[in-house]
Amino acid sequence: MTLRINRRRGDREAYLARLIDAGHEARLCTHSPDGLVLETPCDVQALPGFAEGDVSVQDEAAQLTAELLGPCLAPRPGGRVLDACCAPGGKTAHLLELFDVDLLALDSDATRLARVEDTLARLGLSATLLHADATQRDWWNGTLFDAILLDAPCSGSGVIRRHPDIKRLRRPSDIPRLVELQSRLLDNLWPLLRPGGSMVYATCSVLREENDEQIEAFLARTEDAIATTPQEVSWGRPAGAGRQLLPETESHDGFFYARLKRQG
Ligand SMILES: C[S@@+](CC[C@H](N)C(=O)[O-])C[C@H]1O[C@@H](n2cnc3c(N)ncnc32)[C@H](O)[C@@H]1O
Repeated sequence: MTLRINRRRGDREAYLARLIDAGHEARLCTHSPDGLVLETPCDVQALPGFAEGDVSVQDEAAQLTAELLGPCLAPRPGGRVLDACCAPGGKTAHLLELFDVDLLALDSDATRLARVEDTLARLGLSATLLHADATQRDWWNGTLFDAILLDAPCSGSGVIRRHPDIKRLRRPSDIPRLVELQSRLLDNLWPLLRPGGSMVYATCSVLREENDEQIEAFLARTEDAIATTPQEVSWGRPAGAGRQLLPETESHDGFFYARLKRQG
């Protein structure tokens, strides 16, 4: 069970000491500077300070989103950020814990969006939440975003170690449908980014169609997009214009990340 500390309320070394005092066996994550691993999973209510918003449950690979988007936000405090597929809100919350940004968090599933509201309330964070379809623009007010996170709907093939039922529930025919949806989301959201702004495209998939091949096709048809995914990092392996993490038993889920910059 992997945890993410809320940096607005303390650092992870102090939280590790609290966990150990409370009788938990835990260690720091290797790649995420905000992550801790609890050796034996427990009910979240048994975690010190959970109700007060000191900590959340989030896989280590998912925590790397903030590492990727952070450098694009840091020089522009107050920047306008779109989290286009935000529910249940793990990455939304992490971004708000780290950066003072004006964040619009959107999801097409109203039930899942309600969970984002609960999470932000527990953590003492705020964003504008919108129930809308990110393949459309009827919700957009015309102001460009400094950064966009597209944590796209995907096969979930990277999280099978924690959700083995995915093997049974997914059908081969799901993949082309998801690839097409991801591609529509990319094309619809890209023009909403200001020139010089950045998008992070993420999936919890290990399938190339959803990941490096998806981004390669996007770059080929999008003249003003260049890849800026950092390659000197401790995690994952190069995968086209992005990086692929494979699931690791003692560590993190499978994930794909690509960071893209709009030239101009
Ligand atoms: C991988 S999950 C996002 C996880 C989330 N970013 C987090 O860290 O907690 C993908 C989300 O995309 C949403 N989604 C699917 N199609 C969408 C669309 N057309 N517009 C907006 N959201 C969509 C789903 O409802 C789902 O909540």
